[in-house]
Amino acid sequence: MDVEKIRNDFPFFSEQDQLVYFDNACSTLKPAKVLDAMSEYDRLYSTCGGRSINRLGEWVTEAVSGSRKSIASFIGASKPEEVVFVRNTTEAINLLAYSLSLSAGDVVLTSDKEHNSNLVPWQQKSLREGIVHQVVGTDADGKLDMEAYQKQLSSGRVKLVAMVWVSNLDGVSFPVSEVVEMAHRHGALVFLDAAQAAPHHDIDVSKLGVDFLAFSGHKLCGPSGIGVLYGKEEAICQLKPFMTGGSTVETATYDDHKLLQYPAMFEAGTQDYSGIIGLSSAVRYVQDIGMENIHEHVTKLNVRATEGLLSIPNLSIIGPATADLRGGILSFNIKNTDIHEIAIVLDRSAGIMVRSGAHCVHSWYHSRDIFGSVRASFYFYNTLSEVDKFVESVESISSLYS
Ligand SMILES: Cc1ncc(COP(=O)(O)O)c(C=O)c1O
Repeated sequence: MDVEKIRNDFPFFSEQDQLVYFDNACSTLKPAKVLDAMSEYDRLYSTCGGRSINRLGEWVTEAVSGSRKSIASFIGASKPEEVVFVRNTTEAINLLAYSLSLSAGDVVLTSDKEHNSNLVPWQQKSLREGIVHQVVGTDADGKLDMEAYQKQLSSGRVKLVAMVWVSNLDGVSFPVSEVVEMAHRHGALVFLDAAQAAPHHDIDVSKLGVDFLAFSGHKLCGPSGIGVLYGKEEAICQLKPFMTGGSTVETATYDDHKLLQYPAMFEAGTQDYSGIIGLSSAVRYVQDIGMENIHEHVTKLNVRATEGLLSIPNLSIIGPATADLRGGILSFNIKNTDIHEIAIVLDRSAGIMVRSGAHCVHSWYHSRDIFGSVRASFYFYNTLSEVDKFVESVESISSLYS
């Protein structure tokens, strides 16, 4: 992989080459190809799809249908109709939480490392509908407690397992094939939060057999405000619509209406067409780079960064010390040093962008009595020399405060 050549694809680097962007788990940068695809829609075809049969309307309808096909193929869906466009992973999970019919007392099982987006909607469903939300623990290396998982499934009350694939907290991946297979054996449906997996891994939903999966465009070089809920045919047809209105019905009278089939039933109102077009362009772009190449490169960066940081006294890493178990994520604390101060000094003194805080996984930090962490997250356009600069800067910050 030629990183220098790849960087030329990103306008960001020609304009802000002095900045080091290590906040990729939050949002990634966008290549010119994606920006151009979106701007082509805005400049030349700026109308709605699925309605008007004039030539502009037809162009948009075709573009949306082509995007749906590209995304279905990106995740290995057996039909484009299994792909529902939503705003982001958060909206996908809310759609699922509102639309999946469960009874009071049914259990929804998550891990103890879920992003608030895969926690709060289930807590809300519990308040609204009396479902029971239960949590499976993880160990100090971020690994799912498979014995506890098996035990909870054995109760026979678990109707949905809703779990993160790659954690945004420590970068650790759960063994999703096993998670899905065990849940199905006990009659539970499975939703996977692939917000951090989709940017780094080959996804094959058909092979995995997962029922639902979601990801966001802005974490894989696409636009913000667009994401995907995948629903396997047998699973998605169990969902009731969440938002209804224009584009969700075949016809309506003053008294009644006839809903369209999925995915249209879940895509109410005028859609984010430029986002949908941008997302498929992004997906093609990362596929051209190659998901394996991406994974290999970010792991190489993480190994180098981890080796450097581990030599700093009083610095601790969240999750396993072995970098190749943490993909592109490196979360750390330095004893007696404020995490936000570290992030601010990295930015102001070295132009390095990281994130500090609880990374929307407040529940995990509260349970461990930890305030938060500093998180550096890498992507395929980052370089080893940026990593070296980052390590040097963290070293000098730590010596200032020790
Ligand atoms: C694991 C995980 N799940 C869900 C989300 C929510 O994504 P979005 O804000 O795009 O809805 C994120 C975002 O950081 C995430 O990392």
